[in-house]
Amino acid sequence: MNKKTVRDIAVAGKRVLVRVDFNVPLENGRVADDTRIRAALPTIQYLVAQGAKTILCSHLGRPKGKPDPQHSLRPVAERLSQLLQQPVPLAPDCVGPQVEALVAALRPGELVLLENLRFHAEEEANEEGFARALATLAEVYVNDAFGAAHRAHASTAGVAAWLPAVAGFLMEKELKFLGQALAAPARPFVAILGGAKVSDKIAVIENLLGKVDTLLIGGGMANTFLKAQGREVGDSLVENDKLEVAQTLLHQGGSRLVLPIDVVIADRFAADAQRRAVSVDAVPHGWRILDIGPQTVAHFTRALHGARTVVWNGPMGVFELAPFAEGTFAIARALAELPGATTIVGGGDSAAAAEQAGVAERMTHISTGGGASLEFLEGKVLPGVAVLQDRSNDDR
Ligand code: 3PG
Repeated sequence: MNKKTVRDIAVAGKRVLVRVDFNVPLENGRVADDTRIRAALPTIQYLVAQGAKTILCSHLGRPKGKPDPQHSLRPVAERLSQLLQQPVPLAPDCVGPQVEALVAALRPGELVLLENLRFHAEEEANEEGFARALATLAEVYVNDAFGAAHRAHASTAGVAAWLPAVAGFLMEKELKFLGQALAAPARPFVAILGGAKVSDKIAVIENLLGKVDTLLIGGGMANTFLKAQGREVGDSLVENDKLEVAQTLLHQGGSRLVLPIDVVIADRFAADAQRRAVSVDAVPHGWRILDIGPQTVAHFTRALHGARTVVWNGPMGVFELAPFAEGTFAIARALAELPGATTIVGGGDSAAAAEQAGVAERMTHISTGGGASLEFLEGKVLPGVAVLQDRSNDDR
């Protein structure tokens, strides 16, 4: 990674504004999954240990530019305080005189968490005055919010115009694993893509086809490819307006693009539907594809054999319904069992599937970014990364 990190800048005694992605699920006023909070701990603990005055800021949900108690970061402040075993006061807002006073009172090693940035519409609009008001709070800016780095918002991009801007350790780690996979992967390099819609993944497929040795496609998006090959897919989810794109991608990919050979079909979209595994050439009218079949699992597992780099994004079927989770879980297990491979799981559903399959610990890296990791895999430069200072040759 050629971006400066928090290690490359003096922070002792300084006010450091840290953008984190604390957009976590809440349940009954508590944090239901603290993965993203834990992922930011190395940067926060480093700053505390260095004697910085740490000002944390994040969005939570999509509160539409005005204060909304449902989207307060209070439960996050509580959870973070438990994890750090240190008080983490929550500021009443993210800018303004009260916040400035709280920040001015910080002593080295102390922290404050600002209230949800998206309580101000100026955040998502990347409004200059708002970015400047955030910047005024601090002397250094650290972006550790990989999960929000695809957004060009005031706190992820605009603020860097006013402060020296460096990456946090989570950002560094994400860019290292995802960047290495795209730029210089150990080969063979296999990518596995799934998820419901091919339209979400066209740019990723196009970018990966130029880089991978094999691209395995499962999930609902495979249906559009199967139909583009002239197969009957019954009542399966298909994007008919993407059949031509799918044909082009099939042509570009040639033998590197591998589709399911059998599928699990159901007579309804329901956990208690009738189901069976059939060849992709035998999907009857009125039935729908909800998972990859056992032969496809074996076929994909063979394709993964010997892989040195694997990137996985998107489930192989409707894994939220237990009877249709086996394909996704089997692929997660196959990744976990690959000897000597770097296995990278894109955030969101595939991360949840690896967790549910009980193999999350055995992956090399599970990204904290859903949309961000997808845009990164598309080959886009993320706005929240672009604004960070480059490391000069002297720094290396
Ligand atoms: C995410 O959860 O993917 C990030 O926190 C970004 O959230 P957003 O899609 O609301 O910008």
